[in-house]
Amino acid sequence: GIPKYVKIVEVGARDGLQNEKNMVPTSVKIELIQRLISTGLSVVEATAFVSPKWVPQLADAREVIEALKNMNTTRLPVLVPNLKGLEAAVAAGAKEIAIFASASESFSKSNINCTIDESFSRYRAVVNAATKLNIRVRGYVSCVIGCPVEGMIFPSKVAHVAKELYDMGCSEISLGDTIGIGTPGTVISMLGAVMSVVPVEKLAVHFHDTYGQSLPNILVSLQMGISIVDSSIAGLGGCPYAKGASGNVATEDVVYMLHGLGIQTNVDLGKLLQTGEFICKHLGRHSGSKAAIAFSQV
Ligand code: HMG
Ligand code: MG
Repeated sequence: GIPKYVKIVEVGARDGLQNEKNMVPTSVKIELIQRLISTGLSVVEATAFVSPKWVPQLADAREVIEALKNMNTTRLPVLVPNLKGLEAAVAAGAKEIAIFASASESFSKSNINCTIDESFSRYRAVVNAATKLNIRVRGYVSCVIGCPVEGMIFPSKVAHVAKELYDMGCSEISLGDTIGIGTPGTVISMLGAVMSVVPVEKLAVHFHDTYGQSLPNILVSLQMGISIVDSSIAGLGGCPYAKGASGNVATEDVVYMLHGLGIQTNVDLGKLLQTGEFICKHLGRHSGSKAAIAFSQV
């Protein structure tokens, strides 16, 4: 049956803001994260300690984490691509990290400038060092359904990459449909393959809404036993190295659906809507959340 409680991993401050054309002031990022925390979310991915040449939007990662490091109620993981990123994250006060591999060789090259196998040895060093510091590591697999260059990706390839990350010590594996091309049909096949090698309670799903398939994809994932869902406030997001990738599924829409299913999230939808309004006002754009648009009209 579907889970009674779903853990939402809010990724807007990282997956959303990494994709903004205009620089978002550090103070706005910090306020966004504080507001997200106040909605009851238990995990808020805060930023990424990556090369500022690759992602200039998150060049202020140190300032963001330093401002938030005394927040002890909410987990604030940060993305880390290598040991240099781990060192910088730890120095700033980060207590959790996420590493990000890909099921597509081409995407691995364009996103982190190395092959999938090279990324495994790079990440093994990161996980070993993090584990010694008692730092929990989440592992992402991107392009789990398809890749902008290679087209469809085989479920067996996704399962292989997910298992490598799990075996090296990741506490949780997030399966990313980076370009949002999955449908319930392809998602079920992919999850079936991954669940045969990684325990379902360690798996999260991460959908981008490019083709409007996120909510049905989440629903079938829940039916298969998944209980961790990534989403982004106001549907912010995309990926700078995946042309055409639109925002992540909106957190407001996910919470609305989950509560409608009688699933507990511990998230306050009203506060979430206000937080979405806050960031959309700052970015000068309309919300990517259908629920937010509907509630603003009643
Ligand atoms: P590279 O150019 O091969 O690295 O990049 P390098 O080791 O040759 O270093 C180049 C320069 O970057 C050097 O500086 C390094 O010091 C610096 P220079 O000597 O030229 O002045 N550098 C760093 N600076 C700060 N922090 C670091 C760091 N590492 C090196 N950690 C690298 C390789 C991995 C660094 C680069 O490709 C990179 O940063 N990539 C990150 C790209 C990224 O953040 N992508 C978006 C996130 S993934 C995603 O969105 C998908 C996801 O949401 C799931 C889904 O949707 O499916 C997670
Ligand atoms: Mg993403």
